[in-house]
Amino acid sequence: MNRELSPARRIGGTIVVPGDKSIAHRAALLSILASSPIEVINFPDNADCLSSLKAAESLGVKVAKESNKLVFTPPDSLSPDPETTVDCGNSGTTARLLSGIVAGTEIELTITGDESLQSRPMKRIIDPLTEMGAEFFCEDGRLPMRIRGHKLLPFEYRLPVASAQVKSAVLLAGLASNCTVAVQEEIVTRNHTELMMQHLGKGVEIRKITPVPVQDPLDPRKKKMQMPEPFKRETHLTSQTRITGGTIDIPGDMSTAAFFFAAAAISGETITVENIGLNPTRTAFLDYLKLIGCKVVIENKVTISGEPRGTVTVTGGKLSHRKISGSMTVALIDEIPIIAVVAAFASGTTVIRDAAELRVKESDRLAAVAENLSRMGVKHGILEDGIAVEGGHEFTGADFVSYGDHRIAMAFSIASLFLVGHSTIDDAECVNISCPTFYDILDQIKQ
Ligand code: S3P
Repeated sequence: MNRELSPARRIGGTIVVPGDKSIAHRAALLSILASSPIEVINFPDNADCLSSLKAAESLGVKVAKESNKLVFTPPDSLSPDPETTVDCGNSGTTARLLSGIVAGTEIELTITGDESLQSRPMKRIIDPLTEMGAEFFCEDGRLPMRIRGHKLLPFEYRLPVASAQVKSAVLLAGLASNCTVAVQEEIVTRNHTELMMQHLGKGVEIRKITPVPVQDPLDPRKKKMQMPEPFKRETHLTSQTRITGGTIDIPGDMSTAAFFFAAAAISGETITVENIGLNPTRTAFLDYLKLIGCKVVIENKVTISGEPRGTVTVTGGKLSHRKISGSMTVALIDEIPIIAVVAAFASGTTVIRDAAELRVKESDRLAAVAENLSRMGVKHGILEDGIAVEGGHEFTGADFVSYGDHRIAMAFSIASLFLVGHSTIDDAECVNISCPTFYDILDQIKQ
């Protein structure tokens, strides 16, 4: 459906956004391996999380709605019909995390997804899970993919791609198979899987590697700081690691809130989001906004179910630019489309590098961002692993294309608030993938 979008006179307000998608996926999928029920408060009602809920049901989990929560009751034994095909829809997280679970249990089934998911790379999980002892049957490392799980071998793995999905697939495979695994990260990725395993079970160790003082070889009177390992974090499970069960209360999704904070940033006005997840692996967007000239205030900080949360208020200012690369790009991976939009309204040229991963997300997000920036008249240069956006001018309304990608639709719907004249976006309902209430919340903050 094409949606009409009009410019805003003013922006402001206090909102809540739906529960964190990454945390919800993990709660639903971990219930497959738990020994007693997992109760989930604030499970978001979006298409991606529904894919994980359905995947859990396909493996025998019973899901019941009780007042304000969903209760996921694990099966007595895992014995799905080998003819089972689990359709993960558009959700890469469902497909990759579920693959880990199946790989580590002695079952067999097929995983598939929609056209976008069928084009996304699965080799990144097939390689380590095959090394652990599972069997995969697919064409060219893509879905549909048949998985034959086995009792797996102990495994130590240094992530070759900075991906929380790959890390989680290996950890879940180890958990499912009760074998020792250690996953090492050179660039730290979101850590919801490990935190949830610690919160709902026992036997999960997270080792943060910090620099230690060593003798300076150039000057024996001096010490210098050096990393004792060539990685920054190691997550370790043993054969005794178990998930019992318990309650997960999901905070609001920072990656959804980012769109509304961006509106505050561009307009120079103030938006407050309550009950928002503040896991440090997810808050890089707030750091970025501060660096380019916004005021960010965090209040009411508490930790619930192992995850920090609080109230965040962003007030926009005169926006400048800041290069994004390396570990900063990884920490901002889902926020890059909206950062490109913010960059269009900031002074100078914002350069984003090391973002080739964006080409294998729900769409080729670099190409999608470039196309939509062109449509609104923003000068930019596209690179193999990034984009440079020249900002600071007045732009006109445009007919935007979402490519069926929720984050592209949301990013350019926010852009439309600040354009001269009206805009449209095609396939606007794709926002249902992560935030079905996106346009309702937009109406709340827009005057
Ligand atoms: C996610 C991890 C990220 C992110 C995706 C959700 C997760 O993907 O882009 O939206 O929940 O683990 P990668 O880990 O593959 O970068």
